[in-house]
Amino acid sequence: MLHALVLAGGKGTRMCSALPKVLQPILGEPMLLYVLEVLGKVCEQRNTSILVGHEAERIKECLNSNTLTFIEQGEQLGTGHALYVAWERLQHQEVDSLLVINGDVPLCNYEVLQTLIERFEQDTLDIAFLSTVVEDVREYGLVIRENGAVSSIVEAKDFDSSLYEESKEVNAGIYLFSMKKVAPLLSKLTNDNAKGEYYITQLIDLAIEAGLRVEAVCVDDEEELMGINTPLELAEFEERVRYRICLYWLKQGVHIHNYYAVSIAPTVEIEPGAVIHGPCTITGKTIIGAGVVIEPYCVLHNTVVHADTRICSFSHIDNSSIGSASRVGPFARLRPESLLSNNVRIGNFVEIKKSTLGANVAVNHLSYIGDATIGENTNIGAGTITCNYDGNAKHSTTIGSHVFVGSLTALIAPITIGDNSTIGAGSVITKNVQPNTLALSRSEQKSWHKK
Ligand code: UD1
Ligand code: CA
Repeated sequence: MLHALVLAGGKGTRMCSALPKVLQPILGEPMLLYVLEVLGKVCEQRNTSILVGHEAERIKECLNSNTLTFIEQGEQLGTGHALYVAWERLQHQEVDSLLVINGDVPLCNYEVLQTLIERFEQDTLDIAFLSTVVEDVREYGLVIRENGAVSSIVEAKDFDSSLYEESKEVNAGIYLFSMKKVAPLLSKLTNDNAKGEYYITQLIDLAIEAGLRVEAVCVDDEEELMGINTPLELAEFEERVRYRICLYWLKQGVHIHNYYAVSIAPTVEIEPGAVIHGPCTITGKTIIGAGVVIEPYCVLHNTVVHADTRICSFSHIDNSSIGSASRVGPFARLRPESLLSNNVRIGNFVEIKKSTLGANVAVNHLSYIGDATIGENTNIGAGTITCNYDGNAKHSTTIGSHVFVGSLTALIAPITIGDNSTIGAGSVITKNVQPNTLALSRSEQKSWHKK
């Protein structure tokens, strides 16, 4: 049986971040999810283990999976030690071949993994690993060959040019091991090297010494196989993924203007005919319908936008849903759980939070609507505030349909405003308003003749 193991225990020191490296976001999604996505195509999740160590709880929490197996590496003593620790757990399962992948190679694709697996099986190998030829060997492990055959992997830091010929072929950090043959070698790993770590790559030397069959499967895919270790590499990768995703949607019939400034996460879905203007950022499980226009400088996260709706410039929308033929912004903010029906108008400097708005509702200017339900065809005047927080708890506001709320109204929640009612401008409404009534609370205006 094939089992996959992701090495995700390291600190990622070179990333200079409190966030574990494998959780660093690429277009808003953690690096590790990209690796798991491609692994999912060759191996079922229940046959996939993740080796965690540094910030283990945070990684488990982020993946929130009960099909994946998590194995803890107490101390991070290197990639070889990581495999040793994982094998102590996995040896009791029926694992024949173990596919090991570094958690920081998020662009690795399915075809390349398939090539590795095919070569391993066809040539009945004991170890196969992926390599690629690069311009800049950075801090990779260099593949050393003698008469064409692999003899060793030497980490760039340990490379001694008096011992080996120069090599531009580097180890991608993706291996397939026949564990029956390789397991006895694990206890022979040593840490007498530049980093003082147990290297998984030493298994190549040990295997060759033991007469096992080892091959490097060298693929022409430098971009796909580069590991991410530094903020610069992360930025380079993110840019590559971003470009590919834009290209993909353009080919699907989505119009993207200024595409070089448009970031769309791999989790986003867009219907052909939608129009997106950069710069903008669209992340999470966002779905954009046909005929939707997103103007420049918008941020959308986990949001559904139905057909023919326009999101005007500088709007920030999070975990919300917007019906069709609506208009939001410019300068609107929809906070989580804002559920807007069809043909809704949300204008400039309006904030909506955890509220449901019926069809044809208009909140056009300078308002705050929080913890509210608004029926259809209701108009909310400029400067209306739902006063939902009393300093201790949040309270809800219910506004019926066909209601007209005059400008600068404060609705002190909890409160209910009946259907067809009208609230006079400038009111502070503290008591429920019955349907079909006019309610007004306004101090009397006085006038004096000037002397
Ligand atoms: C590693 C390889 C190098 C290869 C490169 C490809 C070794 C010794 N070197 O170098 O030959 O060219 O990947 O990208 O393996 N990890 C653990 N536990 C540990 C240490 C690391 O789980 O104790 C995990 C890390 O989280 C990471 C992966 O192993 O996901 C690789 O570790 P990293 O330190 O990034 O190795 P490199 O120096 O990049
Ligand atoms: Ca790495």
